[in-house]
Amino acid sequence: MRILVLGGGGREHAIVTALSRSAHKPELFCSPGNGGTAALATNVEINVEDPAFVAEWVERNRIDFVVVGPEAPLVVGVADMLGFDGVPVFGPRAAGAQIEGSKAFAKDLMERYDIPTGGYRLIHSYEEAEEYLREVGAPVVVKADGLAAGKGVTVAETVEDALNAVRLCFDGAFGPAGELVVIEEFLEGPECSLLAFTDGETVLPMLPAQDHKRAYDDDQGPNTGGMGVYAPVPVVDDAALAAMTAILERTVAALKSDGIDYRGVLYGGFILTDEGPKVLEFNARFGDPETQVLLPLLETDLLDVMLAVAEGRLGEIELTWRDGVALSVVLAAGGYPVAYDKGAAINGLDEAGRIEGVTVYHAGTAIDPTGRLVTAGGRVLNVTAVAPSFSEARSRAYQAVDLIRFDNMHYRTDIGLKALRARGEA
Ligand code: GLY
Repeated sequence: MRILVLGGGGREHAIVTALSRSAHKPELFCSPGNGGTAALATNVEINVEDPAFVAEWVERNRIDFVVVGPEAPLVVGVADMLGFDGVPVFGPRAAGAQIEGSKAFAKDLMERYDIPTGGYRLIHSYEEAEEYLREVGAPVVVKADGLAAGKGVTVAETVEDALNAVRLCFDGAFGPAGELVVIEEFLEGPECSLLAFTDGETVLPMLPAQDHKRAYDDDQGPNTGGMGVYAPVPVVDDAALAAMTAILERTVAALKSDGIDYRGVLYGGFILTDEGPKVLEFNARFGDPETQVLLPLLETDLLDVMLAVAEGRLGEIELTWRDGVALSVVLAAGGYPVAYDKGAAINGLDEAGRIEGVTVYHAGTAIDPTGRLVTAGGRVLNVTAVAPSFSEARSRAYQAVDLIRFDNMHYRTDIGLKALRARGEA
């Protein structure tokens, strides 16, 4: 079986790694891929956000199955276009991907189907924002409606900050994504991610995962795509897990009632409030870096699960998970998420990968013309350790981090501490 994976981050390296271990022994292609996927797949250059181009390439190269990593190709309809040609795809069609592609769509769905989330108002002008903020005050959360590469969300402590964020949107900082704005209630509590596989009927939750979105230790600094992650999450007890699972099930049922056959991963970004879990956001895909800890713990053959999702027979699958925990530290280029250099030589990966339980997933890496592995993005590597306990996983991951070198490397030193504190071990 010939499989094309779209995307080029740590998430896609983790997906390609898991697929390469499948009993089906697929032949793998990845676009654009990175320095890590190059060892397991053929990296190919395709404009992954051009559905007609992807469909033509897939036909010409006799691809049997397409796995979509990031949201952008889903939102522009890559799965729809391949579906017309009868090529099975892992990832929802454009109608379903709106759950991530439009905050207004997601909020409206949740409101109509009574899915717990913060109160909100759609804002069409700066004046409307002024009027609404006079009513509700701060803190509030301001979100550009569309995809803004993770930059369109501002937690505003004051009305002035909120209005500045609204102005940025309407001034075009996020392009068309900011033409509509959502102002949301600010909710308090620990956050966690729960992702589920779904074929539009059956919903199989994965393990809860704890992302770390801020750039610096103790959750300080600007928001990023994620600086580290672990799974499972000790603060998520059985009741919270059951409530989040029920929310994902209700969301898939709500989409179905609206005529949307949603197949792929539904990612719930949750906050655990005193009133129970509420939805902060939905994503229409695997999380990054969540995938880099979830797939190393998944025992079931990933390709069997993905094919069952695409073919609408997920009810036949039972997910099994390895004992223990997984923890991943993101190594970033200094200056990320704002301005950073590319092209620095990366060393020490072989030594790091020899530590028990450690896998180093590549994100922003490339092979330069002289054959050297170099940095090629903001988030460069994900150093993932699987171990029986959080303290052991932390120790293995940071031992590996100490062996890796590139100019101006930045990482958080506190990944896993929240888990240790929740267990009274730190
Ligand atoms: N880790 C956050 C995301 O994937 O959107």
